[in-house]
Amino acid sequence: MAYQNLREFIARLERERQLKRIKTPVDVDLEITEITDRVSKASGPALLFEKPRSPQNNTEYHIPLLINAFGTRQRLELALEVNSVEDVARRIEELLEMRPPEGLFDKVRLLPKLADLGSIFPKHVKDGPVKEVIERQDFSLARFPIMKCWPQDGGRFITLPMVITRSPKTGRRNVGCYRMQVFDERTTGMHWQIHKGGAEHFRWLDRQGKGRRMEVAVALGADPATMLSAVLPLPEDLDEFIFAGFLRQEPVELVKCETSDLEVPAHAEIVLEGYVDLDDIRTEGPFGDHTGFYSLEDRFPAFHLTCVTHRKNPIYVSTIVGPPPMEDYWMGYAVERIFLPLMRKQLPEVLDMHMPAEGVFHNLMIVAIRKSYPGHARKVMNAIWGLPGAMFTKCLVVVDDDVDVHNVREVAWKALNHIDPERDIQFVLGPVDQLEHASRLPNFGSKMGVDATRKWPSEGFNRRWPDEIKMDARVKSRIDKMWKDLGL
Ligand SMILES: Cc1cc2nc3c(=O)[nH]c(=O)nc-3n(C[C@H](O)[C@H](O)[C@H](O)COP(=O)(O)O)c2cc1C
Repeated sequence: MAYQNLREFIARLERERQLKRIKTPVDVDLEITEITDRVSKASGPALLFEKPRSPQNNTEYHIPLLINAFGTRQRLELALEVNSVEDVARRIEELLEMRPPEGLFDKVRLLPKLADLGSIFPKHVKDGPVKEVIERQDFSLARFPIMKCWPQDGGRFITLPMVITRSPKTGRRNVGCYRMQVFDERTTGMHWQIHKGGAEHFRWLDRQGKGRRMEVAVALGADPATMLSAVLPLPEDLDEFIFAGFLRQEPVELVKCETSDLEVPAHAEIVLEGYVDLDDIRTEGPFGDHTGFYSLEDRFPAFHLTCVTHRKNPIYVSTIVGPPPMEDYWMGYAVERIFLPLMRKQLPEVLDMHMPAEGVFHNLMIVAIRKSYPGHARKVMNAIWGLPGAMFTKCLVVVDDDVDVHNVREVAWKALNHIDPERDIQFVLGPVDQLEHASRLPNFGSKMGVDATRKWPSEGFNRRWPDEIKMDARVKSRIDKMWKDLGL
């Protein structure tokens, strides 16, 4: 049985001794960040702050705050209910490999998989716990323990929302995790970067002549697979709630909003309903970001709340981003593992890939390939720069299949040995992540590919390529046997 909601996940974390309740009052301004940062850098537990406190009037919120829920590999695996994240990757691989059945035997064999698939589509329900309290008039964001994360932040930010929109063009749904700066009790920023699904929907509003306002619903806290699916850069026509159903192997239950036709997870903790308006674009930021630096002020739509619904005793869920590694590294790791099979579908020569924490997702990707023809590494680079999500990769290092991409020391050692910089480094211009602060222009800049594979004569390399130093296997086994006696 999949987790139905956030609290079932919390209970599981508690049983696994992966959650610590903090009963001391702690300020939502900076103090929760400092505690969480120390805990997350030490691979510590998820934290449930039972008495988050407002420094403005020194009062405690009545709503507890959960943070660092996905902050280790183990918790990520508990969230996805798998023994290893690789199990999810394997299920995706199997799904992608499904071919139309040929004979009766094949048909029968496929049946269980197809039945599995039938259960992934969202289920529409009339009511749900998120409707236990419906506030159409008397609502305010001031009731929620929304954090100011870092000293130079422009204000308080909702950091782990599921932002739900529908395309004015196709009617398709998008769910994305975009931070929201609190402007006042009923207005926030909507920081969807220009390449993201929500921003694309907003642009189409004007193009389709569908008025100036677009309905938006924001769900806070749900079962963990649904929350994680909001951070996945899925293809535009794939609904995150369907993907969440695939991840949890049970449909996500959705209930209609009070003030719009959008649907939200029925078991969410809190839902903010409202709209964005083409005529209300405001300055948002700065915000201490994934990169470990502040992202500077920029212009983003304002989100106007029209209604708030929530459970009777909701839990507010948050995260912090900042100097790596933090909780977001593990969310990124889920993205990495889940996307590898999708990438391999188009690039079967890719054996593995890794985005080390220090690269803060978009700055560094290491890819191992089975090289088959001259210039193969560059073909892979160009293809990756064309993939959604991966297109922002600033440095892309392509290595041979005998390099373990997860061992960054091995990658550095072999790549640095194997390159002739002038020959093996390729620069391209193109779209860059909106968080990129060094590019010549916002959203546009250069990217670098490093071909760190062995070079072939057919690539113009006519010297001998040396062998890697490895000890003789028989000697190793002889030494293994005498090792104890050596007293070392
Ligand atoms: C903790 C966290 C915060 C994020 N904040 C933002 C954000 O403020 N703006 C943004 O565009 N993407 C943000 N992202 C990345 C998006 O959630 C991610 O790119 C996702 O794929 C977007 O969904 P979409 O492809 O449907 O637009 C964040 C990711 C995480 C893990």
